[in-house]
Amino acid sequence: MVERTLAIVKPDAVSRQLTGEIIKRYEHQGFKIAAIKKIRITKSQAEGFYYVHRHRPFFESLANFMAGGPMVVLVLEGEDVIKRHRDLMGATNPKEADKGTIRREFGTDIEHNVVHGSDSRESAQFEIGYFFSGLELQS
Ligand code: RTP
Ligand code: MG
Repeated sequence: MVERTLAIVKPDAVSRQLTGEIIKRYEHQGFKIAAIKKIRITKSQAEGFYYVHRHRPFFESLANFMAGGPMVVLVLEGEDVIKRHRDLMGATNPKEADKGTIRREFGTDIEHNVVHGSDSRESAQFEIGYFFSGLELQS
């Protein structure tokens, strides 16, 4: 079933000039880029995005990190893309991520882990709508 997911090249990866390297991996997997843009968000916008984590101890640090510099947000499209993208990203903690995954290869620590990916159809729908308008999703 063709589906869509939200991917983010996080501020740590953008500042380290890893954007192209990461997007290349998406394309190599055959994921179609349905939409893409570079943005910088405020702390409160970051808190809104990661609202599900509002009671977690790392919430404030995470919001500061995501607001700390520009990031690249993408909508990826393909067969089973939500799970396939999560598999390509690897575990949250780069030290626990499988070999060959983006986080294992480029991640620094559990917070600075270079990429985000939606983890379900429900979160993909919320997250795509958080960053992209209907007009931007027409292609
Ligand atoms: P993401 O939502 O960014 O794709 O990451 P994820 O599903 O693998 O992990 P999640 O549990 O949703 O956590 C969201 C982001 O919060 C930061 N984090 N820091 N210090 C910590 O213990 C900690 N745990 C998570 C990471 O940036 C993680 O990706
Ligand atoms: Mg998550």
